[in-house]
Amino acid sequence: MKLLWTTDLHLLNPGVLHSTGVDPEIRLRRCIDDMLSNHGDAKRLVITGDLIQLRNTAAYSVLANILADVRMPVRLLVGNHDDRVALSEVFPDAQLHEGFLQDVEEVDGHQLIYLDTLADGKHSGQLSPQRLAWLDKTLASADGPALLFMHHPPTNVGIPALDKLRLSDGDTELADILRRHRNRQPYLFCGHLHRNVSGIWRGTPYTVMTTPHLGIALRMEQQPLVKVDENPGYGVILCDKDGVVVHTQSLTKDAAV
Ligand SMILES: [Fe+2]
Repeated sequence: MKLLWTTDLHLLNPGVLHSTGVDPEIRLRRCIDDMLSNHGDAKRLVITGDLIQLRNTAAYSVLANILADVRMPVRLLVGNHDDRVALSEVFPDAQLHEGFLQDVEEVDGHQLIYLDTLADGKHSGQLSPQRLAWLDKTLASADGPALLFMHHPPTNVGIPALDKLRLSDGDTELADILRRHRNRQPYLFCGHLHRNVSGIWRGTPYTVMTTPHLGIALRMEQQPLVKVDENPGYGVILCDKDGVVVHTQSLTKDAAV
């Protein structure tokens, strides 16, 4: 099974220019074009949140326009910049369940779980008791590998400015749930960091995917976030009976502004 994956689009309202001059729409279109040219056989395109820049809710229509040519099903998650209600008004398939944008589906023997880690009014992430209970029940409801997509990674990565923005509310409970369902071989796919990071968090493997837009610098001293104009990129995930493979397709900035 092949899945396409992108994250942290930070699209702007029509007519709004990014302060750096780097256009998130152009960068995303470049990634989508490359995906469709090379990976049209993927079963899903998953976008793990921060679809828009904070309060730029008209940008959901920009995203709908960009995705109009994508023939495979698209799964949208929320991040700390998103607005659940505004998103669901533009995308009929992205409906709230129990007030959250979380969902699950079975694809080729794999359970794909889409989590909602948005904490209202905060940039750090949250899995509330209600969402954790849903996850626990969902993991108990199937067999086979479980692929969990979520905006906020629960782990520290050694970059202080990012570590304080991680999933910090519900992280201990999440680790307990994943431990109880170890037989499901859970794998976490996260965004939010604007960097490629992978590792093991309390026994569960994870990957954080870079963004089509601006990256965040690898600065391990205490300081504010530093944005860097790196190459746009997206992920290609392969899953079979042997396990999970995650590729990053990095594109040049040529012709992309
Ligand atoms: Fe984020």
